[in-house]
Amino acid sequence: MSFVLTWMGHASLGLETDGYILLIDPYLKNNPAASIDPDRVEADYILVTHGHGDHIGDTIEIAKRTGATVISNAEICGWLRKKDVKVHGQHLGGGFQHPFGYLKLTLALHGSGLPDGSYGGNPAGLLLTTNSGEKIYMAGDTGLFGDMRLIGEEGIALAVLPIGDNYTMGPADALRAVKMLTPEHVIPIHYSTFGLIKQDPDAWAKSVQSETKTKAHVLKPGERFVYP
Ligand code: NI
Ligand code: MN
Repeated sequence: MSFVLTWMGHASLGLETDGYILLIDPYLKNNPAASIDPDRVEADYILVTHGHGDHIGDTIEIAKRTGATVISNAEICGWLRKKDVKVHGQHLGGGFQHPFGYLKLTLALHGSGLPDGSYGGNPAGLLLTTNSGEKIYMAGDTGLFGDMRLIGEEGIALAVLPIGDNYTMGPADALRAVKMLTPEHVIPIHYSTFGLIKQDPDAWAKSVQSETKTKAHVLKPGERFVYP
């Protein structure tokens, strides 16, 4: 079996696996780099890493239109439940076997305040094991942390890492993350959406290629990565 990951711009991702459509951090309406309209996107599940506006984005509207279940930390799920969104709350370190695969929330070094100022709990990364056993690590917004080694021990097929700097890891720390995670493939995200996080993804990919065994893939918004 395989999976298909689509970068929709900034930190928004689409993931198709085992017949399910997942959206991760769907920030599309106000995202200058978005590749698709939030009114047209499809979803069976929406995964939200943390409460910031550029991640929770259009989650409420898309969930209501599509009937998708939102998976996030317990605090964000509590906030969404009050807005009549279907939710499944988890928390850091906890995994659950969903129909699309086994999803574990991982540590992320960041904040998680919601757009209206509500408490959004702790930010998370996502570690998904597909129903055919491939592991996808989507780091979310995070700084570098040494326990990425533990995540790497699981055997990662694809890592999706922020490289924008200022709010998250920059290129140098993201390269160190690749060395700890040792994924088969890596895709950089969360860069060049705005001037503050402008980066050269091709230069970063080159450093990954020359210093590690990982294959780096620079996507344009709307482009897909097909595994294997
Ligand atoms: Ni953030
Ligand atoms: Mn962000």
